[in-house]
Amino acid sequence: MARVHVIANQKGGVGKTTVTVNLAAVVADTLGGTADTPPVLGVSTDPQASMLEWANRVGDALPFDFEQCHDNPALLGKLREIQQYSHIFVDTPGSLEDESILQTVLTQADDVIVPLEPEPMSFSPATRSIQRVIQPAGVPWRVLLNNWDPRDGEGDLNQTREYVEARGWPCFHTVIRHYKLHTRASAEGVTVVQYAKNRVALEARQDFFKLALEVLGSSGGGSPRHASPNSDGGNGVSTTGRG
Ligand SMILES: Nc1ncnc2c1ncn2[C@@H]1O[C@H](COP(=O)(O)OP(=O)(O)OP(=O)(O)O)[C@@H](O)[C@H]1O
Ligand SMILES: [Mg+2]
Repeated sequence: MARVHVIANQKGGVGKTTVTVNLAAVVADTLGGTADTPPVLGVSTDPQASMLEWANRVGDALPFDFEQCHDNPALLGKLREIQQYSHIFVDTPGSLEDESILQTVLTQADDVIVPLEPEPMSFSPATRSIQRVIQPAGVPWRVLLNNWDPRDGEGDLNQTREYVEARGWPCFHTVIRHYKLHTRASAEGVTVVQYAKNRVALEARQDFFKLALEVLGSSGGGSPRHASPNSDGGNGVSTTGRG
């Protein structure tokens, strides 16, 4: 049976779609499979369908199968019954208006990934989303710090970590750094596994491989669906500069 990973934060623009597409791509690439039987399904439940547009631009090179299903409540509530994939990554809407979609999808989740930008302005909306919708779902969840630009220094990153730790929130060790490559990937119709072979692209890709290892590591052990998340702290951030 597939493990269903839901990427959620009702604050818009925190990187849900970026994380969903690239994590799905890296996991599919890592697990192998064939073009006819990819191990990963990507699902967009966002009526804005930005993942659909991205997937269409990638075309045949997309390393996972894809479904847009915001208007398919029957499928939304049955993701756990889909048999032929190892992992399903689900992008969700970045608005409060579509909360019923998120609520439905959370009933299907094995775990939830909550992208958070290291930017104090995004704390309150993320906190509301976690407390009101994500925690009550009773599924393991973890915050993922995304879009940190090492050129800005570690001030905001450390402040964000302190905020997360003060609330006792589980958090991924991996921090997804800001790279122009990620910002441009959708328009250019590529995912992280198709980036060019150069040092900067390698660094950008590395963050998603590290994240994939954390996600696969915690989903391979057959832990029960409503188990407590592993919330050990830690750093794991490489502050390598970008050329
Ligand atoms: N790590 C990153 N590096 C560079 N750009 C990023 C990164 N993460 C996100 N972005 C950019 O930030 C913007 C918002 O990201 P994205 O669309 O993934 O967020 P979202 O949470 O899905 O938004 P919405 O709530 O509107 O669906 C996009 O332009 C995206 O390319
Ligand atoms: Mg999105």
